[in-house]
Amino acid sequence: MSSHITAQDTSTALIILAAGKGSRMKSDLPKMLHKVAGAPLLWHAMRAGQSLAPKKTVIVTGFGADAVTASAQTYEPNVETALQSEQLGTGHAVLQAKQAFTRFDGDALVLYADTPFVQPETLQTMAEARKLHDIVVLGFEVFDPNARYGRLVTDGEALLEIVEFKDATPAQRAITLCNSGVVMADNATLFSILEDVTNDNAAGEYYLTDIVAIARTRGLSATVVECSEAETLGVNSRAELARAEAEFQNRTRTSVLDSGVTMQAPDTVHFAWDTVIESGAEIEPYVVFAPGVTVETGASIRAFSHLEGAHVRSDAVVGPYARLRPGADLGQKSRVGNFVEIKNATLGTGAKANHLTYVGDASVGAHANLGAGTVTCNYDGFNKHKTEIGENAFIGSSTMLVAPVSVGNGAMTASGSVITRNVNPGDLALARSQQVNKQGLATRLFEKLRKIKENNK
Ligand code: UD1
Ligand code: MG
Repeated sequence: MSSHITAQDTSTALIILAAGKGSRMKSDLPKMLHKVAGAPLLWHAMRAGQSLAPKKTVIVTGFGADAVTASAQTYEPNVETALQSEQLGTGHAVLQAKQAFTRFDGDALVLYADTPFVQPETLQTMAEARKLHDIVVLGFEVFDPNARYGRLVTDGEALLEIVEFKDATPAQRAITLCNSGVVMADNATLFSILEDVTNDNAAGEYYLTDIVAIARTRGLSATVVECSEAETLGVNSRAELARAEAEFQNRTRTSVLDSGVTMQAPDTVHFAWDTVIESGAEIEPYVVFAPGVTVETGASIRAFSHLEGAHVRSDAVVGPYARLRPGADLGQKSRVGNFVEIKNATLGTGAKANHLTYVGDASVGAHANLGAGTVTCNYDGFNKHKTEIGENAFIGSSTMLVAPVSVGNGAMTASGSVITRNVNPGDLALARSQQVNKQGLATRLFEKLRKIKENNK
């Protein structure tokens, strides 16, 4: 057998800057914890970096460090953090991560937590460019020439320096190629250059952007990879947060349609950051997906439904006006109709809850039918209890199932029953008072009431 050497791709680590307060958000919550599509901006940035299969992730925290750390660990338990106790600039922020790299050999990719939408392909392009250049900076052509981004000064090919807007000459401000903030370099090179960065500038800050000019004095090369401005959209205010949300929704709608999902009015459908819709599903107008939803092929989510933490299996139909809450798991060809709420409950294949029903902390067997107004009474004021309904069971309309309780396979409950004891397979449970008919009493009663009304005039 012949042996050969394979070129080993450089390993990469992420440094995500998340120390800033984001004063313009006018919020006690650190900016990075404000949400887009149901996830903190920080998670979007962390996810963006995943496409380079990073060996480690270091979050630089500062304002609200505990909350930012807790959020980061919720997304990725192994994440490392570095505290920047004073926000002295982006260069200073990156330098705080140095400790975490003492035994790391490879590249560092710097991302900003408030720039959530950098695309995987873009990072791949940067990684490719890194094979030829020492420093790779992500840039974009700015739409608004007055925007206060750092300007990328090139000689047409090589990147010569980055000049912050505040420090730029009128000629430099006229440059439309701007800095996104995303930078990639060998970590040892990066930290070594950062040691030489000073705060002698208009803002009195240690600028990460100064690394380009310093690198060139050391004979190192720098280049720009370009992406669209939408990708590097930064969030500094509530208005920009809303714009980021709109941007995310538009991009997701397009990719969901492209993947083979039918939506008659995509602009009215709202997705979460992690929504999974399989090709061949259909989403009607005005559907909202909160986080944690998977919809399988052939399923139909009808208008005005709200889904969160739910799994809708193939060919199931949900809504119109249905609410699926966390832990809802709807089997193939099951049916959840209008004004039905399902929480922490599984519905077997072909099971139906078509109207005005609450199913919580329950399992419903295949092909069971829950009549209109069925309620699982799962909560006693202190604890939650489970309801089990067997296959092919028939729950009569307006049955109250007082949990814990079970109804066996093929059993039936009579309409209006309050079921407090288990029902064996095949049995019928009748739990309502006997009906008594009084002959002619309605007519006599109407007559009496009519007279009372007349006497009161
Ligand atoms: C930065 C860039 C600018 C670029 C712009 C893109 C510098 C000097 N300037 O400017 O060229 O066009 O981003 O949006 O890098 N942060 C810290 N610690 C600090 C300072 C900032 O963690 O001491 C974090 C912030 O939380 C934020 C990110 O770094 O996530 C960017 O900081 P910000 O102050 O918004 O930089 P800009 O002035 O926008
Ligand atoms: Mg900014």
